[in-house]
Amino acid sequence: MNKENKIREIAVNHHHKYAEKFFNYYEQLKKDKYKNAFTYGRYKLDNLIKELIHNEKKNSKFLDVGCGTGEHLNLAKKYNYDAYGVEPAEDMIKFAKNSYPEIKIKKGISNNLEFEDNFFDIVLMVEVLRYLDKQDIEKSLKEARRVLKPGGKIIVTLVNKWSLDFFFIFQNLRKIFKKSSIDEINPHCEFYTPKNAENLFRKIGFVEVKSHGNMFAILRIAYKLNKSIGYWLAKKLDNFDDKFHSYQLTKPFAGHLILTAKK
Ligand SMILES: C[S@@+](CC[C@H](N)C(=O)[O-])C[C@H]1O[C@@H](n2cnc3c(N)ncnc32)[C@H](O)[C@@H]1O
Repeated sequence: MNKENKIREIAVNHHHKYAEKFFNYYEQLKKDKYKNAFTYGRYKLDNLIKELIHNEKKNSKFLDVGCGTGEHLNLAKKYNYDAYGVEPAEDMIKFAKNSYPEIKIKKGISNNLEFEDNFFDIVLMVEVLRYLDKQDIEKSLKEARRVLKPGGKIIVTLVNKWSLDFFFIFQNLRKIFKKSSIDEINPHCEFYTPKNAENLFRKIGFVEVKSHGNMFAILRIAYKLNKSIGYWLAKKLDNFDDKFHSYQLTKPFAGHLILTAKK
């Protein structure tokens, strides 16, 4: 099996294995957004996603690639979208269908979307491409562009290379000490800076390319060291977070890198 396929298979197996854990994280988020680094991160990310999708006209077509347990499909439905999901991990699909029996999910992968050209108004990919090889990421973005209508919008999250949780350094240290950095417990992670992500989107043919940053990445470390400190700090920093990461200078260090663009 070539490297690209191996990395993709590990990503799918990882999410199949941890589907219940992932589902539980979202359950925690519904109760308390400051509970842990995941809940705070998703709360911040979802606020931005809501802002980015809420103005579209009713009954527009929405695709969530790597839709996991279906939370963003449910959000899109609340905003009156005609929402479709694509997801390869069977247990993720099970949780999604269990929570939201009426949602439309196809089993599939990001580089081969079984939809016709120019079909969707919005394509969303949250925390999906990061698990894939560079070549697979390019193929997936081309595929997303193909299924988007002219003028349609893409919203994608990537992992910020210089994020202040130091994950890039951590992954590389693991590579050095463990010889290989990827397995089903620690899948592959592809890193981007806001600038090189923007360039990639332009190369694929997207226009109006914009990068956004959110979440104080240092909170991930704070939560790891001590949950109460993480909780307290997240509450304190919440109001400054979006403003702080809106600058060119601070964006490369944010916990989330989000790219938006149009076809
Ligand atoms: C971290 S989860 C995010 C789920 C969802 N987007 C969310 O934010 O709630 C990543 C998801 O991407 C899916 N995935 C992994 N490889 C994929 C691929 N090649 N194409 C599409 N989805 C993939 C996983 O199975 C998993 O459900």
